[in-house]
Amino acid sequence: MTLHLKKVLLALCLFLPVAAWANPQYLVFTHVVSPDTPKGKMATMFKTIVERKMGSKYNVIVHPNSELLDDGEAITAIARGEIHFAVPSVSKFEEYTPKLKIYDLPFLFPNMDAVERFQEGPVGQSLLKSMESKGILGLGYLHNGLKQLSANKEFHKPSDLEGLSFRIMDSEVLQKQFQAIGAFGMPMAFADVYEGLASGLIQGQENTWSNIYSKKFYEHQPYIMESNHGVLDYMVITNSNFWNSLPEEERRHFEYALGMALKYGNAVAIAKSKNDHDELRSMKNVNLIELSPKELQVWQQAMKPVWDAYEGEIGKDVIDAAIAAGK
Ligand code: LMR
Repeated sequence: MTLHLKKVLLALCLFLPVAAWANPQYLVFTHVVSPDTPKGKMATMFKTIVERKMGSKYNVIVHPNSELLDDGEAITAIARGEIHFAVPSVSKFEEYTPKLKIYDLPFLFPNMDAVERFQEGPVGQSLLKSMESKGILGLGYLHNGLKQLSANKEFHKPSDLEGLSFRIMDSEVLQKQFQAIGAFGMPMAFADVYEGLASGLIQGQENTWSNIYSKKFYEHQPYIMESNHGVLDYMVITNSNFWNSLPEEERRHFEYALGMALKYGNAVAIAKSKNDHDELRSMKNVNLIELSPKELQVWQQAMKPVWDAYEGEIGKDVIDAAIAAGK
């Protein structure tokens, strides 16, 4: 979709039906992945529960697949109060808070249980409010899974990737992570990754089993390493003024709907991660590269020095809480 068309759509959502919205009001919920993903399914579930309870007052319009906005645009639109809900990856908030950089530190979380423990604790919960002064309120976390590395050539050790360009989310930490192994991190919107891989503009990428499978990245990435080197997690965000202006009872209904939808989305994330991993494993032209404990150590030693540059910005307390959650 062209930027012009997106702007027209957004204008339609925002300004046209003011009178028509009086009853019901349309709430815009945008995301960048397919409906058949943890996030896509969570968004649909949220819509269903909200409308079951408050359908005469609110309709939730879900825009998947970046059809309305990419994540960067969605975060700006939330901050300005132009749309109501979005679920960007926690890697995409660098402009709004340095604290969320915690999630991009390589090899910080050994598994998704550690991520969950960190988020349920006081530090993880406080991060939901870390952008309130910018108009962005976090309502909860949704998982996707651990990230895997892939490339268009066979690789086993960090030096095999020297000189290659990898698509990254727009995150300085991820840029440094690839620098640390002699490769380049190229920030790119999720919607452009398939084309970037197909054209050879980028030779590699990092993402979860679910995204590699659902977006068919494997068609141009025959080598996928089971690296589990990072995490892709999401924050459900809304505009703080919109949220605080809701009548108490309605806000409770939204909270209930979101709580249920997140439980469901997180269960889907676990199931899809396993299913899509298995699907990729069974493909003839996809080679999964497993790491021995010794090989894993080499990758960790290459990437973990990136942490040192971020302790000041993220805060030692936040890093310590994340480490403790992984023990
Ligand atoms: C990405 O840009 O790789 C992810 O944020 C996509 C997603 O799952 O939202």
